[in-house]
Amino acid sequence: MPTAIVSAMHQELAAVLALMPDEHKQVAAGREFWVGHLHGREVVVVLSRIGKVAAATTATALIERFGVQRIVFTGVAGGIAPGVARGDVVVADQFLQHDLDASPIFPRYEVPLYGLSRFATDAVLTDRLDAAVRHALPGTRVHRGLIASGDRFVSSATESQALQQALPEALCVEMEGAAIAQVCHDYGVPFAAVRTISDRADDDAHGDFVQFIEQVASRHSAAIVDALLMRSA
Ligand code: ADE
Repeated sequence: MPTAIVSAMHQELAAVLALMPDEHKQVAAGREFWVGHLHGREVVVVLSRIGKVAAATTATALIERFGVQRIVFTGVAGGIAPGVARGDVVVADQFLQHDLDASPIFPRYEVPLYGLSRFATDAVLTDRLDAAVRHALPGTRVHRGLIASGDRFVSSATESQALQQALPEALCVEMEGAAIAQVCHDYGVPFAAVRTISDRADDDAHGDFVQFIEQVASRHSAAIVDALLMRSA
């Protein structure tokens, strides 16, 4: 059964596709799924697009239509915890939706009727991903912990400081991970995610965002995925 590799930005997807010798396209749910091999292992590579709903649709299609055995997300994020700097890498242990608030009916951040606010990534797959990051990017600072997802590109110091105060454990913010983590929880499919820090989610966050993805993050994604599939059992 294949491993799914998901990215939100097409530059990262292109870097991963370049590693595959035999990919062919299948269209489902309005998306292009690239089915083939990487280091002899079956993979399905897909662009989730941006935001939680797009990510949830993608994860559901991967599981229902392509029967994937595990999902790995690779992308970028804005650092919010002190010391999580541009160019660092974050490996997720848990995800939370920072923009989910059904209070006072349910506690802030809790996903209604799940009794949970945080969804853990798969411990074994996450350890493998962590090892792949350290192998692929020696010298890069790697953090591990909570990632906060929401349907907002956080681009002001005021907002990132407010998030940091409300969620002191959160290392960084992005827009997809918690949705995929919830879908994978629903289906019992292992999930792991890695994010390169592209910005500090402050007033300069959007500056050279696209250039950073093209020059740094897409290279990181390809190197990490390459190392993960080369080393996977
Ligand atoms: N992905 C990368 N940077 C981000 C930010 N500042 N906010 C949300 N998602 C991001």
